[in-house]
Formats: sequence, structure tokens, C-alpha cells
Amino acid sequence: MIPLSLARIAEVTGGQLRGDPSAVVTGEVVIDSRRTAPGGLFAAVAGERSDGHDFAAAAVAAGAVAVLATRPVPVPSVLVADVPAALAALARFVVDALPAVQVAGITGSSGKTSTKDLAAQLAERLGPTIAPAGSFNNEFGHPLTVLRADASTRYLVLELSARGIGHIAYLCRVAPPRYGVVLNVGHAHAGEFGGLDQVARAKGELVEALPAGDAGAGRGGVAILNADDPRVLAMASRTPARVVTFSCAPGALVRAADVRLDDLGRPSFTLLTPEGSARVALRLHGAHHVPNALAAAALARELGLGLDGIADGLSGAVARSRWRMEVRQRADGVTVINDAYNANPESVRAAIDALAHLAQCHLGRGGRGFAVLGHMAELGDASRASHEDIGEYVAGSGLAGLIAVGEEAAPLLAGARRVRSWPGEALAVPDGVAALEVLANLVKPGDVVLIKASRAARLEGVAADLLREADR
Ligand SMILES: Nc1ncnc2c1ncn2[C@@H]1O[C@H](COP(=O)(O)OP(=O)(O)O)[C@@H](O)[C@H]1O
Ligand SMILES: [Mg+2]
Repeated sequence: MIPLSLARIAEVTGGQLRGDPSAVVTGEVVIDSRRTAPGGLFAAVAGERSDGHDFAAAAVAAGAVAVLATRPVPVPSVLVADVPAALAALARFVVDALPAVQVAGITGSSGKTSTKDLAAQLAERLGPTIAPAGSFNNEFGHPLTVLRADASTRYLVLELSARGIGHIAYLCRVAPPRYGVVLNVGHAHAGEFGGLDQVARAKGELVEALPAGDAGAGRGGVAILNADDPRVLAMASRTPARVVTFSCAPGALVRAADVRLDDLGRPSFTLLTPEGSARVALRLHGAHHVPNALAAAALARELGLGLDGIADGLSGAVARSRWRMEVRQRADGVTVINDAYNANPESVRAAIDALAHLAQCHLGRGGRGFAVLGHMAELGDASRASHEDIGEYVAGSGLAGLIAVGEEAAPLLAGARRVRSWPGEALAVPDGVAALEVLANLVKPGDVVLIKASRAARLEGVAADLLREADR
């Protein structure tokens, strides 16, 4: 955070100051009062469960210099009409005050957080980097992340999410990116968007917002596009920036060849760039992380990281955000894949592919694969058919069993039954507790169990309990 006086904060946000204009905010801006640090600014937000204004005094007692609020509070404050808009204005002010910071935005339907974490670990090799924790990617998390930048910051690696047209354009006005990465156009939130073409329209706002490729030394925009996704590649015509492509097939500027998976589904591949090639072995699980790694590599290459730095950096990079393809083994030899952070058709297929691979590798030890799947939310009219298709995909992948958790996930079973030759077991259970009971009887040492659902299903607890099971 660059030091900002309350007078300046009031001016930038168009707010009304109630306090000492010369008091200076030097610490982080937060919306969770429990995370208030001395010298910080607490932004009071009215949420579903609680209203931040009720914690204004506590935040100041914990060291906050003032509170950004929409109604009077009994402590120093800047009163604004709209807190997200005020945070956006402050973030934009900070970005404009730090011209040496290179801003990179990453969007797509699946893999934003994973790619952001990889790209941040590469950018850190070049200089001080700020990237959001987890999925801080909306109208709150985005400006809060940007506000952490200060004069020492060189790179801002941001994750941009959209649930509708105009959302990404808005985030790009908060922190105008020079680099824009688009990973894929898939079915995440497709119900809200009204189809894949609308998703593509929304994600493409990132590359539309980039500066022209010839904007001058150190300023030209770069659009980094996945050549394996036709809807993403088509975005090349929507950007004034220079276009760089990545792909698992020949033809792109940055690509992967000779992809292999180890026994735990961790991919290794040969990274091919115009400067040469190098072998990369990821610590992440699942072949779907190869395009994510290529995207991060293409971005880091544009930032100036050499091939060896990219290959070393990718091979050393760890999963920084929880519940995304976390692979753990129980003492009795049962392997649990906790991918319960969220779910959409593409990410479920990716996880099933990884599960099938792990089960295959465990076959010699009697291993079988079980998919414990909850509901995929926000798919709109396509929801039932999508669940059926995933059920069919599970059965076609040769897994030993499918456990559908919750009423909304039940269509998975109808899909699995389409594969008449499948000898596996398909069961529906009402909730996570029931899923655990079924698994306790079903799963034997050597087996591999995938846990995956949309966030609302909160199945990560099932994965945690399943891992503890052997200790009982
Ligand atoms: N390129 C990809 N294709 C399909 N699924 C992916 C891809 N990258 C990540 N995933 C899966 O999608 C889920 C969400 O990953 P995450 O990196 O958090 O993406 P996002 O931030 O876009 O939601 C995880 O289950 C992850 O394994
Ligand atoms: Mg995310």
C-alpha cells in the first residue's frame, strides 16, 4: 500500500471525511475486520450474514486509521455512496501512481487461480510481485489486491472473473492490464451468461482492454491466447495488442510436446519456445495443468524471464490455493483427490481423467477409482443434460464407482446407466455424511477417490473426513 492521507482518500473516492485529514493510511485495506492491521483502512461492507459497519469500532481499536463506510460510524471515516466503487477508484489511483508496475490479467472459465499462482511464482523470479490469495477476483478482491502494491512492486498478476458481460471490462478499468491471458471458454456460469458465445464475449473484454502492440517501448499490449480453444484464438481479431499463442499442438509460439503423467498424475513435458526447449515437471496433478503452465510460461517470457528460469520456476511451483486437485494418501494406502473447490463440466472431466490415470497406475496394487461428485451449479437449461453427460463420462472412463451426492446431482446416475456394459457401481446419497458411510464400506487400500462439486456443496469436508477415516 502506498501511504495515502485521509484527505487524499476522500478526494479520490469523492467521499465525505469525518476525521483528521492529515492522518495517513500506511497498511492494508481490508473488508474483514479481523484482518485489520495497524495503519490500515477498513472498508465496511454489508454482507449476507453481517454488516461491516457493526465492526467499525473494533477495526479502529485493532489499529485501522479509518473506516470506509456508507453510513455514519462512531470512528474516523470516509463516507462514500458505494464501497466497491470507492475501492475501485482508490485502486486505479494507486496503479496510476506506480507506472513501473507491469499489470497482467488472467481470465478463462477454468484454471484462472492455478495459472495465476504459477505465473506469480515465475514473476517473483524477476521482481517483487503482488498476486491475490486464492480467488480474490471480483469487485472486492480485485481492487483490494491492487491496493497492496507499493513503490517496490514490479508485477501485479491478477485473476479476472466474470459472471456477466461488462464485468471484466470493469476490472480492467480498475487496473488497466498490459498483458492479458485467456485460458479457455467453457461452461462455468454459462447458465448466467446464456451460452458459450456470450462467455467468449465476456472473457474477450480482457484483450479488448489491452493497449496497442505498438504503444511504445515498455507499454505495448500483449494478448496471450490459447490456440487449442477456437473461441479463445478468435479473440485475436478483437485486440489491438500483439498476439502470442500457446498450445499443446504444433504451430503456437509457446507449446508443449511429449506430455507424460507420473503415477500421481503429475504432468511433465518439453516446453518449446522460440529460444529453445527445456523439460518441465509440474508438481500439480492432472494433464489439464499443462495449458495453464504454458500460459504462465508465455506470460513470463514476455516479462523477460529466460527459458531456464521458466522451466525451473514451473518445475518448482507449488499449488498455493486450497482444494484444487490436492492428492493425499491415507496411512492404509487409499488415495484421496480433493478437488472440491468448484465444478463445471470441463473441470470435472479433467479431474475424472486424472482419477482414471491414478487408478490405472494403482491397478497393480488392486486399486480402483471412485468418483464422488456433487452438483455442478449455474449451468442453466443445460444442467440436467450436462450432469447426464458427466455420468456417462465416468462410466466410459472405466472407474469402479460413481457416488452422486445430493438430489441435484442425481442425473449423473441416469447418464452412467447409458453405458450398459459398465460393470461399476452407481449410487445416489443425500449428503456428505451419507457419502462417507458408503465409502467406508466400499473403499479398500489401493483405491483412489475423487471428491468434487461446486462450492455450494462444500464437499471439501468429506475429503478431510475421508483422509482421517483410517486413523479411527
Ligand atoms: N485448464 C483447465 N481445464 C479444465 N479444468 C481445469 C483447468 N485448470 C484448472 N482446472 C480445474 O478447475 C477447477 C478450478 O481451478 P482454478 O485454478 O481454481 O480455476 P478458476 O480460478 O478459473 O476457478 C479445479 O478443479 C482445477 O483442477
Ligand atoms: Mg479462481
